[in-house]
This record gives sequence, structure tokens and C-alpha cells, in this order.
Amino acid sequence: MSEQIVICTKKGADMNLANAFAAKMDVPIGTAMGDALTVVFDAKGVSLCGYGLSYQGDFEQMLHRVTNGRLQHEMLVRAAKTTQDLPRGIDATAGMGEDAFLLAAYGYRMTLYEQNPVIALLLKDAIRRARKHKELKEIAERMQLVEGNSIEMLSKQVDNIDTIYLDPMFPARQKSGLINKKLQLIQKLEPPCAKEEDLFDAAIAVSPKKIIVKRPLKSPFLANRNPNHTFEGKAIRYDCYVVE
Ligand SMILES: C[S@@+](CC[C@H](N)C(=O)[O-])C[C@H]1O[C@@H](n2cnc3c(N)ncnc32)[C@H](O)[C@@H]1O
Repeated sequence: MSEQIVICTKKGADMNLANAFAAKMDVPIGTAMGDALTVVFDAKGVSLCGYGLSYQGDFEQMLHRVTNGRLQHEMLVRAAKTTQDLPRGIDATAGMGEDAFLLAAYGYRMTLYEQNPVIALLLKDAIRRARKHKELKEIAERMQLVEGNSIEMLSKQVDNIDTIYLDPMFPARQKSGLINKKLQLIQKLEPPCAKEEDLFDAAIAVSPKKIIVKRPLKSPFLANRNPNHTFEGKAIRYDCYVVE
């Protein structure tokens, strides 16, 4: 983790969860917000506050992207298209799970790996709330979060994977006003990925049918590996690697 955090509980907090997280992070629980990054437990779940921003994972905000025929137009879904029944996917850099949510909405049974304990906590809380939501439940049931480093996790036996998705942090180029709250706060917690080669090699070693990598539009290929084909949007692209 690149920043120290403060833990704050408010009325209605799940104290078991807060205590377990505080013990794991070796940070005392307080009731006051910190000056920098604060993990807040309250009746609504878990959120991250700091630098004038507040963020809570909320898949309800994604509903408009997966309903009324819009899901098929998502560039990631086009890149991940498959004829496989019950396809299995891995998101090896889960973050707040929004991209994995799109793949789960398409029908993938997704395993999500997230190494940062704060981000994993926020994501777990968002999935927990989604599983109680009438319209999100079915999708969220297809998302299994595993906290840990995917480079290590992928080397344990993982079979029959159709697609591995990689979206490692890229060095920030945009002005902070232009990127969303989620990315601004995640960037405070996680430095850009320093092990792109290891990540790519760990994904290849699983022998999935396909690897999809999200990159800023003009950036070099991940670990300098040339993709088989690419889907380009206005600001980002998806590089697709067909694994033989
Ligand atoms: C740019 S964010 C991903 C955003 C995500 N695609 C989404 O839709 O919210 C990258 C995330 O990958 C995580 N990460 C990077 N390398 C990882 C690794 N080897 N294992 C697990 N998580 C990793 C970082 O902690 C960070 O949360």
C-alpha cells in the first residue's frame, strides 16, 4: 500500500467487520475522520474518504449499461464474446470490479483477484450489497472475490478458463479533475503496476482461450507483447491475445 489509512466507525457499522479489518491492517479504530485516506464503516457499509472525495462501490450505477440491450455494445463485452456455455473468466486486477461486473452480466462466472486490502474490502462490500439487490443479485452471484496477488494465485492450479482480463494501473497522465473518484482514490492506494511481465506470463501459464488487456489508447502494449487484435475506443483500447 502506498498510503497510511485511518479507520473510522459510525452509527450502524458492522463492528465485527471493522474489528477484523483493523486487526489485519494493524490500525486502531477511531470515530474521527482522518486528514488523508479514511476507511469508513457505517450503516450503509464501507466507503473510502479523503482529499475531498468519498467513494463507495455501487453496482446499481452500472445497471443502465447492462440492461435494455446496451450490454452487447460494451467494447469489453465485444472483446470477450464467446460461444462457450457457462464461460469462466478471471479478472486478475479487479479494482472495484466494474469491468468484471460487465463480464458477469454477459454470463461469465468470474473469479476476481485483488491484492490491495482496502480495495478488496470495498469491493467485497459492494458485491455483498449487490447480492441483496433484486436486479443485481443474479450477476453478483457470478462474481467471486479472492483477496491476494494474482501472480501468485494464478500459479496455483487454475483450469478451464476461457478469458483472463488484465487492467493493471497505468501511470496517471490525466489531470485529476478528468478522472473519476474511483480512480483518483485507487491511485492513492496503489502505485502503477511494476510487474507487467510477470502478470502477463502468469496469465499465459493458465492457458486461457483469450487474454484481454485494457490500456490507455496511446500506450504501449502490456509487457511489449503484440496482441492478435485490438478494439479501440476514444480513450482506451482492449488488446486481445488468442492463446494457442
Ligand atoms: C486500474 S485498477 C482495475 C480497475 C477495474 N478494471 C475496475 O473495473 O474497477 C487495477 C487494480 O488491480 C490491482 N492489482 C494490480 N496488480 C495486481 C495483482 N498482481 N494481483 C491482484 N490485484 C492486482 C490493483 O490493486 C488495482 O486495484
